Amino acid sequence: MASMNRSDPVILGHVLAEHRDLFHLMHSVQSRLAMAGLPGLPGPPSPESRADLLESLHHLREHLGDHFAQEELGGFLEEAMTRIPRLSAAVRSIVAQHPSLLAELDRVIDQLTIVEKSGEGAAGAKSWSAAVHAFEAFAAHMAAHERSENAVVQEGYNEDLGLVE
Ligand SMILES: [Fe+2]
Ligand SMILES: [Fe+2]
Repeated sequence: MASMNRSDPVILGHVLAEHRDLFHLMHSVQSRLAMAGLPGLPGPPSPESRADLLESLHHLREHLGDHFAQEELGGFLEEAMTRIPRLSAAVRSIVAQHPSLLAELDRVIDQLTIVEKSGEGAAGAKSWSAAVHAFEAFAAHMAAHERSENAVVQEGYNEDLGLVE
């Protein structure tokens, strides 16, 4: 269509690259979580692996904050909405998820801080498992969020290109 311009594949490629970066950061937290909590360990993981994990979480938090801010500034979501106005409601509900996702990640970080204070015994093990579950829930919400974002962008571009009915 006439509204297509040469920057479109660049925008779409940028979105996908950003989501790949986020996926890698999520994965690095997940593998640290898995390594830190090897089965058979009596309590929470060692202070070293907790510190390492916390660092990867802070890194993810920083990146995610920037990523969301960038999406909210306009760019691909706005672009999809302009092209296909009926996507507006979907875009608005996607953007509205950002603050709660960030708050959820902040709670995972807080939860790990509680592990620090709970010591090495049963209380430590319990708060460690709460932190692991909190991150798993966050990861599931995050994956659903990125999936709906990719779908909106894909729909916006495909329809505009006449690739769908
Ligand atoms: Fe987003
Ligand atoms: Fe995103």
